[in-house]
Amino acid sequence: MQINRNILTLDEFTLQQLREFPQATGELSSLLRDIGLAAKRINVEVNKAGLVDILGDYGTTNVQGEDVKKLDIYANTQMMGVLKHGISCAGIGSEELDDVVVFDDEVSNNSKYVVLFDPLDGSGNIDVNISIGTIFGVYRRVSEIGKPCTREDFLQPGKRQVAAGYIVYGSSTMLVYGTRRGVNGFTLDPAIGEFCLSHPNIKCPPAGNIYSVNHGHFFRYNEGVRSYITACQQKTKDNGGPYTQRYIGSMVADVHRNLIKGGIFMYPGTTDKPKGKLRLMYECNPFAFITEVAGGRATNGIQRILDIQPTELHQRSAFFVGSKDMMDELDTHLAKAQ
Ligand code: AHG
Repeated sequence: MQINRNILTLDEFTLQQLREFPQATGELSSLLRDIGLAAKRINVEVNKAGLVDILGDYGTTNVQGEDVKKLDIYANTQMMGVLKHGISCAGIGSEELDDVVVFDDEVSNNSKYVVLFDPLDGSGNIDVNISIGTIFGVYRRVSEIGKPCTREDFLQPGKRQVAAGYIVYGSSTMLVYGTRRGVNGFTLDPAIGEFCLSHPNIKCPPAGNIYSVNHGHFFRYNEGVRSYITACQQKTKDNGGPYTQRYIGSMVADVHRNLIKGGIFMYPGTTDKPKGKLRLMYECNPFAFITEVAGGRATNGIQRILDIQPTELHQRSAFFVGSKDMMDELDTHLAKAQ
């Protein structure tokens, strides 16, 4: 087999980036490679999800009498494991866990990053074979290096992320991550088991024609959101339309598509849940960071997501994210309804 040397693997790419910064310690590159490893392991299990009838349902005992771990718990264990055993992470916060985990060993206490993640977002879609994903945000800790990390390291606004990314387990498996220098996408090549650079320097098109929202909640959204959705439905070719509505109920897939093709994703608050459903720290902040670096915008309908000072780990937030022009038009509708 001939090896195509034009293809860069995730490891090669992160090392290449590192070479451009001789003063860099390589900790961030190492951390991203660790997450790439967890993603590969999770991918193997996600791909077996359709075989639950044969291998045993998650959370039960299979025909061989073995315990079958729930996939989201498995994904959480893998993410935690690679970060704990790596050399770059002092502790983690996970959507699956009530509180942060401080690694507290000599190497971890000397590491400068903490990571917040949702190990398996959209897990309600697993048994119907719809794309799901892992989402993560990386923060430089504010506590003293050499000591265990603290809660303050995790309760930082999203603008302090140094990197953020997601893995989408879909028709192919992709890892997309962004730093302030840009957003790059890597597709898993199953033949060599490596993520290969497939989408260099991703830019979110400023104009798009896809809007993604749960229409079932329409009458529970506020007036501004309803006004914008109605405007989306009324678009014609004379005013930038027509628009198309796409919502699969798996945020990683929905936001990934809109990032590449141009579009807006909305999970607004409703009359019964004013802060919506999504978690600020694990879902909104990473996507807001990636989208902004790619040229788009993200808000909670009132302020920039990345400026929100979190007060608790699992807090929820309304979320609007996507192409700049569409976000600007949304703002006009929200302001008019004030
Ligand atoms: P879960 O991980 O519990 O399946 O939630 C998925 C999230 C997100 O990925 C998706 O966009 C949203 O919930 C869908 O929620 P609705 O069904 O309320 O639209």
